[in-house]
Amino acid sequence: MKVGGYDAAMPSIDLRSDTVTVPDEAMRRAMAAAEVGDDVYGEDPTVIRLQDELADMVAMEAGLFFPSGTMSNQAALAAHTGRGDEVILPEGGHVFEYEIGAMSLLSGLTPRPIPAPAGLPTVDALRGAVHRSIHQAPTGLVVLENTHNKAGGTVLPLAAQRALIDVAHEERLPIHLDGARAFNAATALGVEISEVVRGFDSVSICLSKGLGAPVGTVLLGSRDFVAVAHRYRKAFGGGMRQAGILAAAGLEAIRRGPAWLADDHRRARMLAEGAARIPGVSVDLERVHTNIVFLDVDDATSVAADWNEHGVRSNALGARAIRLVTHRHIADEDVETALRIMADRMEARSEQVRS
Ligand SMILES: Cc1ncc(COP(=O)(O)O)c(C=O)c1O
Repeated sequence: MKVGGYDAAMPSIDLRSDTVTVPDEAMRRAMAAAEVGDDVYGEDPTVIRLQDELADMVAMEAGLFFPSGTMSNQAALAAHTGRGDEVILPEGGHVFEYEIGAMSLLSGLTPRPIPAPAGLPTVDALRGAVHRSIHQAPTGLVVLENTHNKAGGTVLPLAAQRALIDVAHEERLPIHLDGARAFNAATALGVEISEVVRGFDSVSICLSKGLGAPVGTVLLGSRDFVAVAHRYRKAFGGGMRQAGILAAAGLEAIRRGPAWLADDHRRARMLAEGAARIPGVSVDLERVHTNIVFLDVDDATSVAADWNEHGVRSNALGARAIRLVTHRHIADEDVETALRIMADRMEARSEQVRS
């Protein structure tokens, strides 16, 4: 039944992103009860607790709470480099591809994307991209992304990651991890989060994706690095006042959120295997490591729009690619319903073509 344009009988299965998760009751209670102070003066006890607790979990010296992953990454880039430097990153890396040129806009940096099948550059590709000649912008930083969003939520194997960290350090370059979904990597690898971030000079971890907080990212590294990043956070407009209300949700997210991720991964696998059986859809199942599934279809924009009209929300990312992301609000039945709708719609599309 349609009421005012809204069809109450139609399902709405939101697979656009894990950022659509909303805080649960326990999180909301923690937010309401949070002890707060002015964080620009460094006086918010809940923010301090979140920063310290996550720094302990990742075995780094210090943390800094940011309003977003973008600001956290960009403050890290600025803090590690000098104006005019080049930043080496895997192709498709979020800090370049989806942060709207902020590294150039804010910090005068040039991105140097290098080939990275499944998000993982080779040691030779990394070494070959380091510039020191007077004719080229000097390399100032290396960035990796684990899990790698655009490659399909792929996990970088720890030994290969370690080899890249070693090359960066041999070249006397700092190396930053965009670990927006580092807890997903830890879950998929079956290791502690500290293992995933070991060796990096800094890491940015989002609380507002699969971990379920409404807002927030923490940037972690040495005390000296965090002190520099703190100045950039202020310069980028990220000084928040009684931010403990948000940090309280972040504490719930890091304490309880990691336990939800294995189910998200299992459901992404169900979704991927089911989608691979739908005529007109293909899926590289080898790339499905965590909670992200990329589908290949003939026309991503029109297929995604059609599924959306029938209750399955997704993101068209490119001419043929549709991204689906599982998260805490997607149950097994939602995956089954979504697959049924997707299959019916693909069948209807092929009938339209035939008639
Ligand atoms: C890998 C990665 N890094 C960074 C970000 C940025 O996070 P935010 O949306 O909080 O700015 C995202 C967001 O989707 C992401 O997927």
